[in-house]
Amino acid sequence: MGTYLVTGIGRGIGCELARILLHRGDRVIGTLRDPNQTLPEWSEFIAGGQLMLLALDVRDDASIRAAAASLDGSIDVLVNNAGVIGSQRQSTLDMDFNGFLEILNVNTLGPLRIVQAFLPHLKRSKAAKIVTISSRMGSLSYAKSDRIAYRASKAAVNKVMQGLATDLREDGIVAISVHPGWVQTDMGGSGADISVGESAAGLVRLIDRLSLDDTGGFFDWQGARVSF
Ligand SMILES: NC(=O)c1ccc[n+]([C@@H]2O[C@H](COP(=O)([O-])OP(=O)(O)OC[C@H]3O[C@@H](n4cnc5c(N)ncnc54)[C@H](OP(=O)(O)O)[C@@H]3O)[C@@H](O)[C@H]2O)c1
Repeated sequence: MGTYLVTGIGRGIGCELARILLHRGDRVIGTLRDPNQTLPEWSEFIAGGQLMLLALDVRDDASIRAAAASLDGSIDVLVNNAGVIGSQRQSTLDMDFNGFLEILNVNTLGPLRIVQAFLPHLKRSKAAKIVTISSRMGSLSYAKSDRIAYRASKAAVNKVMQGLATDLREDGIVAISVHPGWVQTDMGGSGADISVGESAAGLVRLIDRLSLDDTGGFFDWQGARVSF
């Protein structure tokens, strides 16, 4: 059983990942922006010491550093899940530029801030893994242009993850990006392809089998490689 840090466990994919990991016996450190967002079903896991909640906002370096300083021990798997899709006004011909900066701040800079702050904990693990939930919408091989700020933020975080993979290889730390599918969450909408349960179960299967051979890669929720 391992220790997983998952950002944004209050709803959506992060919530379901935490649920699966807790029910199979792993230890979860889950982050929330609002510590009052806890679910009733988590009480027993918190009381038993299996679930620990940390308050942080991935845009706020001070909140991340304070959360990391409050944590002892090691982290085996860090899942950068927290993300935003941003406002409707993100076309190349009509851009909300402040909105674009906000999306980059959360989706691209946020995961890197989290990795840097929790790197000492990852280095204490014998086989640490960093998994960033990206999106196929960021693939440079697609020419689609809707939600271009979101697409650019995911393309950029893929590059950041590839760089981390290179820089952390000698420490034996795996770093990958993953596309979770088009998922029925607040972000994906009710008409999306797959349930949050299907996506999270697939992501856990992928995470379990990751090795250093996979580092720097981009995968989908079913474990197949995706082109950058
Ligand atoms: N759903 C899809 O179809 C789909 C497809 C491809 C990729 N993804 C990616 O999968 C990840 C999870 O998406 P989802 O569908 O589960 O979205 P969601 O239901 O909208 O949940 C987003 C999560 O991110 C957290 N979050 C947002 N901004 C944050 C911030 N500044 N600091 C800390 N936490 C923050 C939210 O916390 P609050 O509750 O506090 O807002 C929430 O827990 C995202 O990275 C998304 O881009 C989703």
